Amino acid sequence: MPHTPTPFETRLRAVADTVERRLETLLDDAPRTGEIARPERLMAAMRHAALAGGKRLRPFLAVEATRLLGGPEEAGLRAGLAIELIHCYSLVHDDLPAMDDDDLRRGKPTVHVAFDDATAILAGDALLTLAFEVATAEGPDAPAEIRAALAAAIARAAGLAGMVGGQMLDLAAEGRWGPRRLGEDEIRRLQAMKTGALLAVSAEAGAIAAGAGAEDRARLLAYGRALGAAFQIADDILDREATAEALGKAVGKDAGRGKGTLVDALGLDAARAECDRLVAEAEAALAPWGDRAAVLIEAARFTAARKA
Ligand code: IPE
Ligand code: IPE
Ligand code: MG
Ligand code: MG
Ligand code: MG
Repeated sequence: MPHTPTPFETRLRAVADTVERRLETLLDDAPRTGEIARPERLMAAMRHAALAGGKRLRPFLAVEATRLLGGPEEAGLRAGLAIELIHCYSLVHDDLPAMDDDDLRRGKPTVHVAFDDATAILAGDALLTLAFEVATAEGPDAPAEIRAALAAAIARAAGLAGMVGGQMLDLAAEGRWGPRRLGEDEIRRLQAMKTGALLAVSAEAGAIAAGAGAEDRARLLAYGRALGAAFQIADDILDREATAEALGKAVGKDAGRGKGTLVDALGLDAARAECDRLVAEAEAALAPWGDRAAVLIEAARFTAARKA
């Protein structure tokens, strides 16, 4: 029997299509007012990194959080686009020879393979900075204080005590700079930073874009943190169990590199159980909204059960 898409699947697809179209426009070759030139090779590398691929889970969380709180959809989408640009940059740099040294990403050659290391570094830098142009862009639905709050929250999640800091701890855990064997709590902290922070701020940014008060913002952040932790455990399980064809990226690399993963620390069964517990925690954070949060609840379940 043909599979009838659930409301969640329909929404995820719709947001992903919108994200793709908006990124295509943002990354076209035509210089904008105030820009001197858009170097062709840089633009091509940025498009390679950001277009045609990816689940677009982070913008989805932002858009759905804004929608849950009755905020302007365009503002949630812009916050989500900014975070997706940062996510794409993080993947380009994560795949570099100096970091995870991967050749395949989203079913295509990685940016440094398709172009070269210098172009990949600059494409990442340019995606990161473009993200803040997008997050702070003026618009009728974007008062200055909301744009400033978005930029601050996204910067914090992306930076030294968030994604970038987490990537540093991730590489240190390989033992590059001296012997390092992480305990469970250290692995959780590393993962909360390298992956959890951007996913958490995605949900929180949707709340900020909706002009939410501190309480709702904190609830969405708690939801995003639990979902983010579940997400990285699922990523680590997929590295063990999935195929490169299904994932569109190399598999079986974490153990060989000595990456700090909960799969390693706890074993597969306990890691799976922890993932389920985190999904329940994410759901609990949304309890005040009851059925209205159904799509975000599905998003947490999808994050844990995904096959890619
Ligand atoms: C992969 O993220 C990198 C991690 C943070 C583990 P995703 O699985 O969300 O990658 P795309 O965007 O769908 O390709
Ligand atoms: C990377 O984690 C998280 C980022 C900040 C990019 P991984 O190194 O596990 O991501 P994959 O498996 O290469 O997508
Ligand atoms: Mg990595
Ligand atoms: Mg990697
Ligand atoms: Mg991984």
